[in-house]
Amino acid sequence: MREVVLVGAGGMGRAWMDVIERRPDLRVSAVVDVSVAAAQAAARERGWDVPCVATVAEAFATVEPPSMLLNVTIPEAHRGVSEAALHAGVPVLSEKPVTPTVADALALAAVSERLGVLLATSQSRRHLAGLRAFRDAVAAYGGAAQLDAAFFQNPRFGGFRDEMDSPLLIDMAIHTFDQARYVLGSEPASVYCEEFSPPWSWYRGGAAAQAIFRFADGARFAYSGSWCADGLTTSWNGAWRASAAAGSVEWDGEQAVRAQDAHGAARTLRPVEQAEGLDAALAEFLQALDGGPTPSGEIHANIWSLAMVEASVASARSGAPVLLDDVFARAAETCVTEARSNGDDATADLVASWGGAPPR
Ligand SMILES: NC(=O)c1ccc[n+]([C@@H]2O[C@H](COP(=O)([O-])OP(=O)(O)OC[C@H]3O[C@@H](n4cnc5c(N)ncnc54)[C@H](O)[C@@H]3O)[C@@H](O)[C@H]2O)c1
Repeated sequence: MREVVLVGAGGMGRAWMDVIERRPDLRVSAVVDVSVAAAQAAARERGWDVPCVATVAEAFATVEPPSMLLNVTIPEAHRGVSEAALHAGVPVLSEKPVTPTVADALALAAVSERLGVLLATSQSRRHLAGLRAFRDAVAAYGGAAQLDAAFFQNPRFGGFRDEMDSPLLIDMAIHTFDQARYVLGSEPASVYCEEFSPPWSWYRGGAAAQAIFRFADGARFAYSGSWCADGLTTSWNGAWRASAAAGSVEWDGEQAVRAQDAHGAARTLRPVEQAEGLDAALAEFLQALDGGPTPSGEIHANIWSLAMVEASVASARSGAPVLLDDVFARAAETCVTEARSNGDDATADLVASWGGAPPR
């Protein structure tokens, strides 16, 4: 039986508790939340008699060393919680975004690399049978030169998202951007993005965006999204179309994948059933702990999805295209300056040696 310390007993923390309860080989040994009452309530709901404490340090002082830590706190707390676990030698599976900024993510990548302790992000929407079928069909046609994703939803959250800057780009688009990296199998080089809100928006920040990414292999990825689009909403995974040398492929974001080449009729592809979402992200992480392949959300790779968000926001603010190289260079500078001022020369030296995105 593997033991897990779960940090963050909010809405998503409860979803992760369900995932762990589905696994006979895992058990939560402690629940951590700055609100101990919230941790206790979540544990009580499940009849778990486990320590409920306010900090990772208290949890590690109380229970046997766990096999892993699940970081399901708010984004602003991600770095501190993950870093505490890495320094204790405990591998971390973190909710997205791995940190709020690329500079923070570089620091975590450096700590993970130096200490040799795994840190991965759960990008749950990468693990979908429909997305895999779409990606495989695109690859069979020779890879997309043009990829489009439309995301139109209308949630009335009524919480922090209504008040934050760039709610769509920062809180949601990372999923779609990560899916585009997965489909294209290449990394982004530049983006031009406009962010705005329709007149009827119920968000304070920009609730809609259109972005065009150029990828390193020359492919273009166009994103068009809105979080205040009533009627004819797309799937939460968006609606996709890819244009490749040997044909075109569409995905409705759920199960329907259609492909057509220059000569034949359109074919409907049947996605192969597989573990999806959080369950799949966890399975991939546990396999890596057992010596399996590096998880797709490992921080050195996942940082590119975060950089797509940061570059999009920078482009929307400046009104000009932004190079991902520039985003990484600026972030590295910030990270190195901060690490030096904290006396953490090991992190500063490693990040400085990368000079940009961390090598994989
Ligand atoms: N993958 C997805 O589809 C998906 C969906 C929703 C949320 N999320 C992500 O999950 C994370 C949590 O979201 P949520 O909706 O559960 O938020 P939430 O606000 O409901 O819960 C977060 C919890 O973390 C606790 N917390 C904050 N700082 C802490 C700290 N330093 N140490 C310990 N606990 C701390 C809070 O007290 C709260 O109970 C976020 O990163 C969010 O982006 C992912």
